[in-house]
Amino acid sequence: MKEIVMAKKPKMLADLFHEQLKDVFYAENKILKTLPKMQKAAHAKDLNAAFSKHERETRGQVTRLNKVFKMIGKPARGKVCDAINGIVEEGAEVMKDFKGMPALDAGLLAAAQAVEHYEMARYGTLRTWAEELGYPEAAALLDATLKEEKATDKALTQMAKSVINLKAEGA
Ligand SMILES: [Fe+2]
Repeated sequence: MKEIVMAKKPKMLADLFHEQLKDVFYAENKILKTLPKMQKAAHAKDLNAAFSKHERETRGQVTRLNKVFKMIGKPARGKVCDAINGIVEEGAEVMKDFKGMPALDAGLLAAAQAVEHYEMARYGTLRTWAEELGYPEAAALLDATLKEEKATDKALTQMAKSVINLKAEGA
């Protein structure tokens, strides 16, 4: 039988909340660096505009996260998020492999939707935890970002249905 030598300090939901806040803070900053590259690569006007709009939104999202860190009395710091690094890496691969090709925009769009879905998962969880932990103001900020990510995802879906995939098919 294992002997419990010394009880570690139990990790609570508040610790988990802080960890995931650092994760999404890292992710947003990574996305901020990536969006201009995606915007530059996009051919379709609509997609180009969507990327630049989302870059502006992302700046606001980082500001919200800074506020949430303040509300929980922690410094705004990120923690390497392998998931977003992987998604961004895949997007970079598409940009390289499909450079100048008709399907490039469809690939960029797919990469952007993967990013949005990752963020939607994170913000949905964080918002719920903020409520659980008794941070209603933080929950409201996280919810505002969640709504933006969802709207962006929806806009991207519309684009996928309209122009971009048709072009990729050579229509
Ligand atoms: Fe975001």
